[in-house]
Amino acid sequence: MTGRKKKFEDVIIDTDPGHDDAMALMLALKSQIFKVHAITTVAGNSGIENTTRNVRFILKLLEREDIPVYSGAKKPLKRELVTAVVHGKSGLEGIDPKNPAKLTNNAVSKIISIVKENPGKITLITLGPLTNIAKAIKQNPRVMRKLKAIVMMGGAIRVAGNMSRVAEFNIFVDPEAADIVMGFPVKKAIIPLDACNHVVMQPSDFAKITNQSLAIPIKKMIKPYIANTLKVEGINGALMYDPLTVYYLINPKASKTKEMNVVVKTKGELAGMTAASKKEPANVTVVERTSAKQFKEDFINILSL
Ligand code: BDR
Ligand code: CA
Repeated sequence: MTGRKKKFEDVIIDTDPGHDDAMALMLALKSQIFKVHAITTVAGNSGIENTTRNVRFILKLLEREDIPVYSGAKKPLKRELVTAVVHGKSGLEGIDPKNPAKLTNNAVSKIISIVKENPGKITLITLGPLTNIAKAIKQNPRVMRKLKAIVMMGGAIRVAGNMSRVAEFNIFVDPEAADIVMGFPVKKAIIPLDACNHVVMQPSDFAKITNQSLAIPIKKMIKPYIANTLKVEGINGALMYDPLTVYYLINPKASKTKEMNVVVKTKGELAGMTAASKKEPANVTVVERTSAKQFKEDFINILSL
């Protein structure tokens, strides 16, 4: 793989599985380039019980139950939860795990304590609405300033939203939280729809994964994910939003980025819009495009390990 990093990256992954979140966790853990201090869960694609249950299911599958899982927000800061359609009721339609969720309700305090214990070292990877992160920032901004970076799946810069004309799901669900995170003065990167819309995988791509312990569950989950995506978005294939976000850290050279100033709109029908300006000082690295060919090749190779 070209440009793959050698050193361990210290991370916390905040997530709401979600089929693509599930594949992002597989990619992160199989890549072996991350030291995952914790996985924190948030309500988003499905309710907190389901997203937490789904994380535990994926960790069992990967034989990585040693990684601590802390459950977090069950609803956005100021709004009612809107869940996604494409991942089905359970969040992982096709598998619909039945294991206990074992909620711990302490994601926010755990994020703060891990960052405090590892000043300047932790990259926060966020794959869902930003509720937990905004709460952590509000609760202890001094400690959260000690993050190395926040790398987020979210936003739609030059393209239409997938939840409204202008808003992408993760930002749409909790725009007030996204506003707090986007305005927070630490190094940030976003992987918006602009990049994600170009990376779509087909069953024939997934069939190349040779590790059957992952290939079999993936085959089960992509069937409804693809069918639902076709129905809801008119796109025939599996959109790889969250794996692409993890991949940005695995192989940054595969992406083209631009420094921009992005603010999050929170009012009226523009709520959830990520509005970008070239005139203001940049506050975030925006991933504009990732090589779909390179991503697919690396994704298949890493999951085949
Ligand atoms: C984002 O929304 C969720 O449905 C996906 O898991 C991804 O994080 C894409 O808009
Ligand atoms: Ca997600």
